[in-house]
Amino acid sequence: MIGIYAFAIFWIALAVGILLFSLLKDRSPRTGPTRPATRKRMLIGFGVVYVAIGLVVPAFSIADSQNADVVRGEGIKLTANEKKGQALFGQLCGSCHQLASANANGRVGPSLDMQLMPQPAADAAAAAKNYKGRSDYVYTVIINGLQRGNGNMPALVTQGQQAKDIAAFVAATAGYANP
Ligand code: HEC
Repeated sequence: MIGIYAFAIFWIALAVGILLFSLLKDRSPRTGPTRPATRKRMLIGFGVVYVAIGLVVPAFSIADSQNADVVRGEGIKLTANEKKGQALFGQLCGSCHQLASANANGRVGPSLDMQLMPQPAADAAAAAKNYKGRSDYVYTVIINGLQRGNGNMPALVTQGQQAKDIAAFVAATAGYANP
């Protein structure tokens, strides 16, 4: 939310700045001895403010999204199989993938927090269907591997029950920081 406010404030400040600048420009006589200097000072002032906001807004957005992840992650209870999946993920997948719930920070493949974050669901049935979709997808990728041109994920890093446990764990926690 802070990010959205900061974003709005930035554009409002920009609009006001442009308005003030154009007013100033219209009124000041081009040959006046003091006006051009004032205008230059104001221009520099606006420039400094815009650069400062440009640095502050992304910082707020990043901090905001990290907070959101932590809050969303509270209270997830892992099943016994998902717990096994968590440990297996650390051993078999974490060197290539980022997944906060497994403390994994691999950079070879895509971040699974980013790629598999749950989409908003209208009701519990839709949420369950989304969960099943994510879980099936992860299982399929583990079995078949993936070569879409973003690097190669080898097929059959594991299989059978281990692959199912990992898929269940990833589907339950991707996008959440602290299960
Ligand atoms: C050797 C590195 C490596 C290992 C180990 C690995 N992956 Fe991957 N994974 C990749 C790469 C690279 C991609 C991207 C492939 C592409 O998009 O072409 C990928 C893609 C994926 C995707 C698809 C993400 C998307 O954007 O749709 C999933 C899901 C996935 N991996 C899960 C896993 C799981 C679960 C494990 C552990 C069993 C695992 N990976 C182990 C390298 C790896």
